Amino acid sequence: MITTIQHHILREQQRISGARGTFSWLLSGITLATKMTESRIRRAGLMDTLGEAGGMNVQGEAQQKLDVYANEALMHCLGLRDSVAVLVSEENEEPVTFDRKSEGGEYAIVFDPLDGSSNIDVNVNVGTIFSIFRCAAATESGHRGAVLQRGRKQVAAGYVIYGPSTMLVYTTGHGVFGFTLDPAIGAYVLSHENIRMPEAGSIYSVNEANADDFPPNYREYLQLLRQKKLGRRYSSRYIGSLVADFHRTLLKGGVFLYPPTAGYPNGKLRLLYEANPLAFIAEQAGGAAVTGSGCVLDVEPCDIHQRVPFVVGGKEEVDFFMTHA
Ligand code: AHG
Ligand code: MN
Ligand code: MN
Repeated sequence: MITTIQHHILREQQRISGARGTFSWLLSGITLATKMTESRIRRAGLMDTLGEAGGMNVQGEAQQKLDVYANEALMHCLGLRDSVAVLVSEENEEPVTFDRKSEGGEYAIVFDPLDGSSNIDVNVNVGTIFSIFRCAAATESGHRGAVLQRGRKQVAAGYVIYGPSTMLVYTTGHGVFGFTLDPAIGAYVLSHENIRMPEAGSIYSVNEANADDFPPNYREYLQLLRQKKLGRRYSSRYIGSLVADFHRTLLKGGVFLYPPTAGYPNGKLRLLYEANPLAFIAEQAGGAAVTGSGCVLDVEPCDIHQRVPFVVGGKEEVDFFMTHA
């Protein structure tokens, strides 16, 4: 008998304090938006959806048409959920708030609507990343306070990877579960029960073109891996879509790094909607995620689009990095 993500969420939400049907209704908004995006990606080459949208996002990066579509799908589907008080997107400079005095919006959701979008035109995996907080703890400091919470406060986090198959991976703090979209029934079906990240892997993943800019401890760490200091040979794999590089690391082990570079002195990846959700998943799967000076999930956010250096992977690789950080 199949277990759909809706069924799984209903079971999970009983373990989330205070979550009622609103939480599963909220997550169904995310799954619906990702199915809309998935169907658009599948036909990208046949419709006028490849290429740039002509705008720049808040990061100063050229928006791809699918960035805009994926963002609009999430804004639309989540905006209809009464339990949503505030949304933060990579594609929006400011948080989007909903005046829900009556329903008392309970949740804040931050997301990267389309991750790895530079890979769209060459038919390489892309993804969607999301992170969910409860607002209650922060309403006195308003909506900005509701989203500028430490990663440890996440109620749930997940990503969808659009690839040969489309998979949704998520955690609510009780393990990591993977669901594969079955196109025949249009449902995400449980395919990976309780995912565990291998303690020790044999792949490292980093954009080596920036290696001369990396701080010395990163360069030394990578050299030690190449010199088999962990007792085994490493291969290098870099897809350039964070979700894809992370998904491989989650399933196969090893380590992914986006260090500080000349172009991105604090690293390129964003804390709220890239590093935090993936760090939550990594830790829940038995792995680890650090910024070089401590755990990602302990960083006190100060800006919704702030960037952090990001090292995530199996405990052995990350512990070894921290002894060299
Ligand atoms: P996004 O498409 O959401 O802007 O994210 C792109 C990120 C991430 O997916 C990937 O790990 C990284 O950019 C790759 O950066 P480089 O091309 O500098 O290696
Ligand atoms: Mn991204
Ligand atoms: Mn993006």
